[in-house]
Amino acid sequence: MDIRRSPDPQALAIDAAVYIAGRISDSIAESGSCHLALAGGRTPEATYKCLRDMTIDWQRLHIWFGDERCLPSGDEERNDTMARTALLDHVPIPKEQIHTIAAELGATAAASAYCEDLRLAPPLDLILLGLGEDGHTASIFPGHGPFPAGVEAVAIFDAPKPPPERVSLSPAYIRQASERIVLASGSSKQDALKQIQAGKPLPAAKIGEAIWLVDEAAISG
Ligand code: 6PG
Repeated sequence: MDIRRSPDPQALAIDAAVYIAGRISDSIAESGSCHLALAGGRTPEATYKCLRDMTIDWQRLHIWFGDERCLPSGDEERNDTMARTALLDHVPIPKEQIHTIAAELGATAAASAYCEDLRLAPPLDLILLGLGEDGHTASIFPGHGPFPAGVEAVAIFDAPKPPPERVSLSPAYIRQASERIVLASGSSKQDALKQIQAGKPLPAAKIGEAIWLVDEAAISG
């Protein structure tokens, strides 16, 4: 596993923002655009705030989401609300290039609509992901799946992390991206990270090769 350590959460936020900004710019240099899926949860928030100050050709960036919670649009607990507050409301990405998941429609309808949107786009260049204490990532939790082949996004109804109803990129679609970056911070992620390093087939271990950006607290021993 390609694990890159930062000493503490503040350093991780800066180190991750620098790395992500570099990969966005590489993608834009290579193909003229970058299709980036953002992670939800709390960990990436500090990184998103640092990203605001990075030199990025924002006009060439397309934003997608790794998953979304089925809550009303604008709800404080939605992943796109956090992303807007921490980053998207502060940078000049054309609004038509921010592809949110219509999770307010309910998981089945939202997953279907998101699949249609994703089919019109190139494969994602970069996917940012978090790590749950149980080894979940995006909204793929232990015991979920297998999922139908060739499906870009899936409806989730029994997520153990509230809310239970969500939409998530499928593991197979996550694996198709050019690069995956997992952010993990804090001692609560030690056990999951240790199990993944030991080869336990947790959902975050089944997303393909990834760059793991972690702080010291998340790495046991
Ligand atoms: C969510 C995320 C989820 C998150 C992990 C880590 O909707 O919560 O998609 O996968 O990334 O649970 O969450 P924290 O960063 O808050 O620890």
